[in-house]
Amino acid sequence: MDEIKQKLGETAANLIKDKSVIGLGTGSTAKYFIKSLAKRCSNGLSIRAVSSSKSSERLAKNLGMKIIDLEKINHIDVYVDGADEINSKKQMIKGRGGALLREKILANSSTKVIIIVDYTKYVEKLGAALLPVEVIPFGCNLTKNNLEKLGYISNFRKDRDSNLYITENDNYILDIKLQKLLDDPLKDHNLIKSIPGVVDTGIFIDLAKAVLVGYHDKIERFF
Ligand code: 5RP
Repeated sequence: MDEIKQKLGETAANLIKDKSVIGLGTGSTAKYFIKSLAKRCSNGLSIRAVSSSKSSERLAKNLGMKIIDLEKINHIDVYVDGADEINSKKQMIKGRGGALLREKILANSSTKVIIIVDYTKYVEKLGAALLPVEVIPFGCNLTKNNLEKLGYISNFRKDRDSNLYITENDNYILDIKLQKLLDDPLKDHNLIKSIPGVVDTGIFIDLAKAVLVGYHDKIERFF
């Protein structure tokens, strides 16, 4: 699978044009993009980058890329990221890496969003993956109960030490185990977001513009 992700990263990095502002996604596939982009930068490509997470920022900086302060720009040309699941309507579940809110903020302000996924993530219907929901700590058990009343059974995400996972926005994540695949992901997103205490869901709608799906022998693109 790493070979596929590497190829995806390289392909996406080759689409980046000189002098553009690039949004860096988070996760193992996005990492390959960052590595390939850094290589292009060391060969003369000039870009400015903003990051959706500290881990991606650290990687990019270690590879010699310049990360700029988000407050210094007012738009992003291209945002590149992975996804946990994506369907043919380019609706996605994201957030396994915990960066869903920052990812959504960057994607939403980008002229073009390129999603790079291996073939296991390209699904007919979303919902087999856990659906992450970022919630504020205040009243988080009430928020969890309110989700349950709507039929969404969730667990608080834990970190490696079994402590509550805390996002870079100082929030928690409830991972929903969906009871069935989603017929209308936007409906679920809106319902979940209607609960006070929910900051955002990992359902991404109308954000991806180009999708690269990697297989062992090819990369398929759809726009
Ligand atoms: C992080 C994300 C990632 O893009 C998503 O989890 C896919 O990660 P990977 O490429 O490691 O499978 O949404 O919050």
